[in-house]
Amino acid sequence: MAEPDAYAREDAGQPPSLHPPYKSTSLRSPSRPLVRIPQTLTETTGPRDAAGLMGPAMADLTAHHAGVPQGQRIIVAGRVLDERGRPAANTLVEIWQANAAGRYIHAKDQWDAPIDPNFTGMGRVITDAEGRYQFVTVRPGAYPWGNHDNAWRPSHIHLSLLGPAFATRLVTQMYFPDDPLIPLDPIACAVPQPFRDRLVARFDLDTTRPSWALGYLFDLVLRGPGATPMEA
Ligand SMILES: [Fe+2]
Repeated sequence: MAEPDAYAREDAGQPPSLHPPYKSTSLRSPSRPLVRIPQTLTETTGPRDAAGLMGPAMADLTAHHAGVPQGQRIIVAGRVLDERGRPAANTLVEIWQANAAGRYIHAKDQWDAPIDPNFTGMGRVITDAEGRYQFVTVRPGAYPWGNHDNAWRPSHIHLSLLGPAFATRLVTQMYFPDDPLIPLDPIACAVPQPFRDRLVARFDLDTTRPSWALGYLFDLVLRGPGATPMEA
């Protein structure tokens, strides 16, 4: 029987389940052969109306509170494309990120950086007919984590893309060009080169708005030879 397209596959661009420099993968990677679980109607058909389920779009992460958040305002824009370069319309794109100081609004994030009362760090939009999406936000700061001595995550934005079914979900991260922490980061480096560079956004002067915000382009490609690597 042919396998449904929605089955995840690991290929050369995907980070391995076990990447020892990224320490938590030692505990959470499978130690036995994988068991394939047949997908049911629910996973392959729902949700039909992601736009209706998600509530109002949250494209401007700097406009969720009474004041303007601290930090460098940026625009992150791009397209979601399939493996033939055709636009993936009506794709739910969700992002979450730390604030400009590198801190998340999360009970478990308690490191010595300020919470910004004007920044939550979550956004969601639906791609248009050309597969385009755009967010306004602030550039997230780097933050320390306990993976190894003096470990810092590079500035990054988390992304989740949900297609026409629950099984069609891509979770990945976007990095910023010329960040010196990228080559030191075990999560980014779990993605082998040259595929790692696909996780780095491109500065774009045409997306940049004069006297207002820097612009970055980040296209996401679903499968095929230009596929965006998934998060480990
Ligand atoms: Fe993060």
